This record gives sequence, C-alpha cells and structure tokens, in this order.
Amino acid sequence: MIIAVDGPAASGKGTIAKALARHYGLPHLDTGLLYRAVGVSVMRAGGDPGDAEDALHGCAFDPALLADAVLKTESAGRAASLVSAHPQVREALLERQRAFAGQPGGAVLDGRDIGTVIAPQAEAKLFVTASSGIRAQRRFRELESMGGGVPFDAVMADILARDERDTARSAAPLRQAEDADLLDTSDLSIDAAVQRAIALVEARKADR
Ligand code: DC
Repeated sequence: MIIAVDGPAASGKGTIAKALARHYGLPHLDTGLLYRAVGVSVMRAGGDPGDAEDALHGCAFDPALLADAVLKTESAGRAASLVSAHPQVREALLERQRAFAGQPGGAVLDGRDIGTVIAPQAEAKLFVTASSGIRAQRRFRELESMGGGVPFDAVMADILARDERDTARSAAPLRQAEDADLLDTSDLSIDAAVQRAIALVEARKADR
C-alpha cells in the first residue's frame, strides 16, 4: 500500500506521515528533506537557490547531508522552496522518490506533489492542512524550543510567502489531488489528527 501525504508547511503532515508509517509498518520518506538538501548544498557552494543552473548543481548533494540537523532550519526551508520551483530540479529528484514509492511492501511519502505527480496511483491520499495562523503558531513554538529569537510576525510572513511560492509555481504546484481526503488539523491534537488519518486510510482500504 502506498500512502501519499501532501500539504503546506507546518500543517502536521510530517508528524502524521511518520505515525502512519509506524502504524502500518511501512518505510517513510520525507521528500521535503531532498529539496532542503538541494537548497543547503546550493547555499554552501555560494550559489543562488533562485537560479536554475545553480539549483540543478545542488541536486548532486552529499547523501550525508540528509541526516544533518541544518536541514531543519528556516533558511534551509526557504532555499528548498526556491529550488523546488525549478522543473529541472523536480525532474532530477523524481526517480528517487518513485523508486521509494515502488518498494514491494509499499511506503508512506510526504511532500507537496506525492498524490498528484510522484505516486498518483497511491491507494490512500491525504491532503493535510491547517489555517495559516495555526501553522505559524506551531512553527513559532518549534523555533522557540530550538532557542527562539524569531519574532512571530516574521514566522507568519515566512509561512505566507512559502504558501504563495509552493502553490503559485507552474511545476507541480501544491494542490489537493481529486481523489485525496482533506484533513484539517487546525482544531485537532496530534493524537486526534493521527487517529483521523488512520480512519481515512482504513476507509480507502475498505473501498478497494
Ligand atoms: O515539507 P518541507 O517544509 O520540508 O518542504 C520544504 C520545501 O520543499 C517546500 O517549501 C516546497 C518544497 N517541496 C516540494 O516542492 N515538493 C515536495 N514533494 C516536498 C517539498
């Protein structure tokens, strides 16, 4: 079984995807990490993530980078959002994601275009979202727990800018697949959101 989990930044999709993978005993790929690794690799080389050629060079990143905490930073997220708008970068990362999805027992992948582009054949697709205010609050708290120093307004502005870039780009923009179930986590605890996600997957399994 392939489970596709898509949604905007700080919607809870990563937490939900991880919990689903644990529940069903499936391997999990956070595809945002790939774009983050490309972004960081471009910045380290002194390149511009907005430049298509620089971004493409970044696709040859050192695999060790995928385990580096630097990928979690806000600047890595911003660079990821910029490099991810280049169709050549998406193309370069496509096969690796499709191969992961195609493992014999199935897999859980989370990102922006899993249900629409990477694995349109997925048996279960969740589009996880939450209001921008709630997402900014979550990100703000997360940053505070990591040392803080970023004002709430800046976090909110960053969330809105990221939404705009991820949905407005022409290459595989963030959108809900027609056959995806919407899961709004705005008013849900993590536990409640995970239980709801499992119920949605179970309903899709029963449909098959
Ligand atoms: O999920 P995340 O915040 O780690 O993703 C970082 C950026 O990478 C996001 O702003 C857009 C891009 N991304 C993408 O375009 N497609 C994916 N499947 C995953 C991430």
